[in-house]
Amino acid sequence: MPYSDYRTALVTGASTGMGAATVEKFTAQGLTVHAVARNRSRLEELAERTGAIPHALDLADTGALEELGGLEVDVLVNNAGVSRQGNVLSSTREDLDDMVDINVRAVLQLVRIFLPGMVERDLGHVVNVSSIAGLYNFFGHTAYHATKAAVHQISRQIRNDTVGKRIRVTEIAPGRVETEIFGRNLGGTPEAMKEAWETFYEGYESLTTEDIVNAIDFAVSAPRHANLGLIEIMPTFQVPGGLTFDRREA
Ligand SMILES: NC(=O)c1ccc[n+]([C@@H]2O[C@H](COP(=O)([O-])OP(=O)(O)OC[C@H]3O[C@@H](n4cnc5c(N)ncnc54)[C@H](OP(=O)(O)O)[C@@H]3O)[C@@H](O)[C@H]2O)c1
Repeated sequence: MPYSDYRTALVTGASTGMGAATVEKFTAQGLTVHAVARNRSRLEELAERTGAIPHALDLADTGALEELGGLEVDVLVNNAGVSRQGNVLSSTREDLDDMVDINVRAVLQLVRIFLPGMVERDLGHVVNVSSIAGLYNFFGHTAYHATKAAVHQISRQIRNDTVGKRIRVTEIAPGRVETEIFGRNLGGTPEAMKEAWETFYEGYESLTTEDIVNAIDFAVSAPRHANLGLIEIMPTFQVPGGLTFDRREA
């Protein structure tokens, strides 16, 4: 399908990283783009640069999401996501709530809000950014893995919910991408961002936001009869291998 058959998009996590890069691509492709995140000044700067329409809100606030419900959205990009350091043993109540609220609940609510309109118009595309954490086991945060596995199933399942309609659903499952996510895990301060850069990115050939946006663009610009269901994209030097088998303690 020519990209131009879609007229509007809504992108979450638009204030930085993959979300901001997706907004840039979509506006350049001629879509009217609604950009969602909490950081109003970053969204306004993005709007200035791209012509996107900013919506500063917290995705944990379902009422605020429902206020967007009047919008006609052809392409919904559920990109926003949060992670935490450690695993379930070291988690706070807020850690778990944040991951469930942002990574899963908001995705389901936005699908509930916008999918019926897509079905009615027989036109729509949902792009969900999950993670390799949703597909493989490794030593990431348990709740992050669980929520991303949920995004994987949501992506599969809404294909069933909309069978017979020209609704496409694409899951993008990235490996490590150079963004702020690890710095946010460490506290989000400039020092934390620097530490995260040194720990997780320096010396690695990670993916860039452009790599992710190119994958999204490929899926969205495919002919309308073709649904790119799952795109797993990892740095060439990153592999999901590895099995741990600890010796019992003497
Ligand atoms: N980077 C990686 O290595 C990697 C790998 C695999 C998958 N992913 C996934 O890719 C997606 C994008 O991640 P990224 O790396 O680009 O992340 P990022 O740089 O940390 O950006 C996260 C985005 O989500 C928004 N956000 C966070 N909490 C929010 C809330 N409560 N309400 C509204 N917006 C909120 C942030 O905006 P505000 O702070 O302005 O609200 C920001 O725009 C996520 O789903 C992530 O899990 C990332």
